[in-house]
Amino acid sequence: MPRRTDAPLRWSPAQRRLHWAVAFLILLAFPIAWVMAAVPFEELLLKFLLFQVHKTLGLLVLIAALLRLVIRFRRGRPEWDPGLPGWQRKAAGRLHAALYVLLLVVPVLGYLVACTAPVQIPTLFFGILPVPAIVGESKPWFPLLLDLHRAAAIALVLLATGHAAAAIHNHRRDLPVLRRMWSG
Ligand code: HEM
Ligand code: HEM
Repeated sequence: MPRRTDAPLRWSPAQRRLHWAVAFLILLAFPIAWVMAAVPFEELLLKFLLFQVHKTLGLLVLIAALLRLVIRFRRGRPEWDPGLPGWQRKAAGRLHAALYVLLLVVPVLGYLVACTAPVQIPTLFFGILPVPAIVGESKPWFPLLLDLHRAAAIALVLLATGHAAAAIHNHRRDLPVLRRMWSG
């Protein structure tokens, strides 16, 4: 991410809302993925609905992440809190970059999993808007993409957990890092 000389004083309301919205969407999409895969085919309607909810939440993550990146490149971010040592700023910068990459990679892989699945279930955004498939069913690619999608999603959740733990740790040290992401 580029460093800017004219850094804003605080996170904008859009940056803050999108940050928490993405965290909330992932908090829902991740557990739903395991449940939808475990639901037996006998309960077809429930399985179908859970797949649609999972895919809609995932596509919302992709849209929100793209929006966040546009705002981030145009506006930048506030300066690091002066109470954070240099190594922590460096580590947090790299972690944030990795999170942004995964916020794009996980939903794109999920979309490709849906396109290549042996059983073609349409992807309906919010249950109504059909999302076109850019590639067709593929027996060799599907399991590979599913493994990658699952592994990237687990990495995203693990990194986000470490990131949240660091934010809470700094909050308990009385640094305003969490406060300014929450309330500006
Ligand atoms: C950040 C967003 C997402 C997260 C955290 C996520 C997470 C996961 C996880 C953990 C699994 C593996 C479940 C299992 O193996 O039991 C999975 C499966 C799947 N996801 Fe996602 N996903 C996301 C976005 C998407 C998107 C955008 C789509 C499609 C438009 C999608 C479609 C699928 C499909 C089709 C499966 C395969 C289920 C199966 O056939 O077993 N995901 N997802
Ligand atoms: C899936 C969940 C999450 C993701 C993907 C995520 C991602 C990110 C990213 C990419 C940034 C950097 C923003 C930028 O530079 O534009 C950030 C900042 C931040 N996040 Fe999260 N986050 C998540 C959850 C959380 C949680 C649960 C907390 C707190 C408990 C938290 C606290 C913060 C704080 C305080 C900042 C600002 C850091 C600073 O001012 O230097 N995040 N987050």
